[in-house]
Amino acid sequence: MVLQINTPIPKDLPLDLPLPEWLLVSLLIISFLLHIVFINLMVGGSIITLWAQIKGLKHKEYDILAHEIAKTITVNKSIAVVMGVAPLLSINTLYTLYFYSANALTGFAWIMIIPLVTIAFLLTYLHKYTWHSLEKNKSLHIAIMGLAVAIFLFIPLIFLTNVNLMMFPEKWGTVKGFLNALLLPNVFPRYFEFLGACIAITGIFLVWYNGRKSYPVEEIYTNFTRNTIKRIGYSITTVGLSLQILFGIIVLFTLPSKGISYSVIAVMAGAGLLLANALWLCYKTITQNEIIIDKHFKKIALSILCFLCFYGGSRQMYRHNALEKHQELVAVHTAEFQKLSKQAREEAIVLQQQEAAAPKTDADLGKGVFNQYCAACHKPDVKLVGPPVIEMASIYKGDKANLQKWIKAPGKKRADSPQMPGFLQLSQSELDQLSEYILTIQ
Ligand code: HEC
Repeated sequence: MVLQINTPIPKDLPLDLPLPEWLLVSLLIISFLLHIVFINLMVGGSIITLWAQIKGLKHKEYDILAHEIAKTITVNKSIAVVMGVAPLLSINTLYTLYFYSANALTGFAWIMIIPLVTIAFLLTYLHKYTWHSLEKNKSLHIAIMGLAVAIFLFIPLIFLTNVNLMMFPEKWGTVKGFLNALLLPNVFPRYFEFLGACIAITGIFLVWYNGRKSYPVEEIYTNFTRNTIKRIGYSITTVGLSLQILFGIIVLFTLPSKGISYSVIAVMAGAGLLLANALWLCYKTITQNEIIIDKHFKKIALSILCFLCFYGGSRQMYRHNALEKHQELVAVHTAEFQKLSKQAREEAIVLQQQEAAAPKTDADLGKGVFNQYCAACHKPDVKLVGPPVIEMASIYKGDKANLQKWIKAPGKKRADSPQMPGFLQLSQSELDQLSEYILTIQ
């Protein structure tokens, strides 16, 4: 009931989905996960690059590390963008009403994503390609990445606000733009959880990236060994996972209850346990000696991977639960609308049929003749070139014969009017119908 009172409930577009719903939902979850992993690597990579480059002002090796990570950002970015098309289209198709409403309500900020993304992407290229030419001007070079990071940190807020707003139609009536929607419960906890994921996934990516046999660590670095870099990677992952768990718990407790169910809690708890497992293994790795640095790598990576699947699943489950009631109300509206529109269409057809079936009177036929031959100069009740029809009716009341005589051979009566042409071509029945029409006009 509360939902119904505070919520704008539009009717849905009565169009079928282009694919079965389960297929679209699977596509949404899978393509979103692929997209978000590369987004994590892009955002996390930028943050870590900035951090390593600043640290590199004192320790040259970190500067090299920053350069190596910077080279991956633009690649991960491109993959993220390409992978973003499918989830965007899927969510748009599955949740048209909700997604569109949230877009419209965050309007300006939502559109801002396009220029912001463009600028941030160009900055990452600029940063990458000016690595050597700005060697002497490190602060400017770092500032370029700083700006890119700032933009990268802002954009997810817009996305999160949007996908959050779409789940709460009851707020649509009162929300006033992006800044207002930003304060919806759990936008910020989810945001910081996302940043934690960016850092964690970039950390584990670094371990893998530097562990590849084909990657010539010895040629690139002077002091850092493969293990040193891996250790840095694991440490970064540890920081990221800790953030994720901390904010994940806050998310769980700040999620509005309407989408929560036992299964959502179970899946979220499972996701949390996977993260805790990964964190524990990372922690063990960095606190033990280097010979077994890769001992837990696969388990950590697998835990994070499984976490992502749980995470994607729980998001979809929550969204489904949160919107279910509203979708039912919309379905009622849509059904009502379809019923009314069907009725209206049927009534129109019946009316048409009745009109077609009704026998035409002489007056009806006469009106047709009048429109064809006389309407250019005569109107029913005002003077045009000739006098109005009501005037004819009063002159020739009960005198069909003379009216017909006039029509065939008009005289010249009115001083202020020209001569009316005669209509000898009309048949007797047309004349009868015409005069019937004229004389019945009141
Ligand atoms: C080209 C213009 C024109 C057309 C077409 C025309 N009329 Fe007229 N009609 C006039 C004019 C002008 C007068 C006034 C003539 C006068 O008073 O001298 C007039 C006058 C009349 C009068 C009045 C006669 C009276 O005794 O005062 C009748 C009736 C009439 N028209 C019927 C018709 C009918 C029926 C048609 C179609 C078959 C028709 N007219 C077509 C211009 C036209």
